[in-house]
Order: sequence, then structure tokens, then C-alpha cells
Amino acid sequence: VHDSKNVIVAMSGASGAAYGLRLVHVLGECGYTVYFTLTDGASQVLAAESGIRIDPRGPRPEDLGFDRSRVRVFSIDNVAAPFSSGTFLHRGMAIVPCSMGTVGRLAHAVSTNLLERAADVCLKEKRRLIVVPRETPLHSLHLENMLALARAGATILPAMPGFYRKPKSVEDLVDSVVGKVLDHLGIEHGISRRWGMKGTGDERP
Ligand SMILES: Cc1cc2nc3c(=O)[nH]c(=O)nc-3n(C[C@H](O)[C@H](O)[C@H](O)COP(=O)(O)O)c2cc1C
Repeated sequence: VHDSKNVIVAMSGASGAAYGLRLVHVLGECGYTVYFTLTDGASQVLAAESGIRIDPRGPRPEDLGFDRSRVRVFSIDNVAAPFSSGTFLHRGMAIVPCSMGTVGRLAHAVSTNLLERAADVCLKEKRRLIVVPRETPLHSLHLENMLALARAGATILPAMPGFYRKPKSVEDLVDSVVGKVLDHLGIEHGISRRWGMKGTGDERP
């Protein structure tokens, strides 16, 4: 299923809503169909960081600035969504950003909502699961939970933008993380420059 045009993106309530929004937009531009959900915590972070208000009756693509033809949005309590089942074929799932609460529940296979169920299915079906945690500092349980997830097959890809490519804007920093997520989904993109590529100006640190 690595060549599927379906990608699951979920946002939970860590800081960094811009990473998730940007990922969905780029996937749409690259011709992928995004299956999307977000937690109530993510809705609160979206309001605080992006001024986006999610209708309490359920999220709609236009509230999030998404293209309806590219993004299918599901309520977090809809555990009957297609990607709640192992029969749904997709290229991978990315949780961007991922709160420590969600990390903890995933590490213990506690599937209380659509995000957690879909991630649990990825692990049992050996599909790509990319977790983009954001918290600082981290206590030992955070670290143990991330290790448990990595051992179960998830890729832990912290929201830690690199500075060696000389970012000029917040958007550049966001793209450095989103570019990494796309790399791990096996999706070609041009949103972040690659180190040492001739003609890119990236040859020197
Ligand atoms: C503005 C804001 C920023 C937050 N940032 C973080 C964060 O960076 N990391 C984190 O683990 N939780 C963060 N939280 C707390 C989570 O949103 C909260 O623990 C929530 O219950 C997580 O639930 P969820 O995992 O279902 O999204 C933040 C909350 C708010 C309102």
C-alpha cells in the first residue's frame, strides 16, 4: 500500500498546529487524498495559535481552510470512519502535532477516539505511523512512552526544526518539519531544501 494516494493526518493538542495544517495543504497539492481528524485539544490549540474556530457540532474542511475535493474531515468520536479499520488502504498516518496525552494513550494501545484507533490499527497492520511529538521538557514517562511506540513500529519525528539550512521565516521552520514528515511518507516534495545539494546554496553550514 506504499503507493496508495490516501494519507491519514490527525492533529492532537500539542503546540504547533501550523505543522499539521501545512502538511494537509502540501499533501493536497501533491495530489493525495487526506483523511483528517483532530482532537478537542487540537481545536483549542488551533483557536489559540491560528484563530481557527471549530464548530462544536463537528469540524468542516472549510473551517480549516482545506479543499473539500482533497480532504475528508471526520469527527474524533467517529470510530466507524473508514480508516478505523485495517481494511482501509493508505500510504501512512501522521499525527502532527502529537500531545503527550495522545503519546501516552497510544503507547498503551488505549483507543478512546478515532485518532487513537487509527494509529493502533497502523501498528497492528504494520503500516507507516509517524508521530510528531511536541513538549519540553520531557519527563521519564514521556520518554518511555515514545520508546514504547518506536519499538511497536512508529517513527518518532519530534517537531524540532533544523537551523543549518538558514531559515528566514517561521514558514521555513514549519516546512523543515513538514518536509521530514513527507520524506518519511515516501512523498517527493520541494518544500524544504536538502543539505549539500549543488546549486541550492546549502553546500556550506
Ligand atoms: C495552547 C495550548 C498549547 C498546548 N501545548 C501542548 C504541547 O506542546 N504539548 C502537549 O503535550 N500538550 C499541550 N497542550 C495540552 C494538551 O492540549 C492537553 O493535554 C490535551 O488534553 C491533550 O489532549 P489530546 O491528546 O486528546 O489532544 C496544550 C494546550 C493548549 C491549550
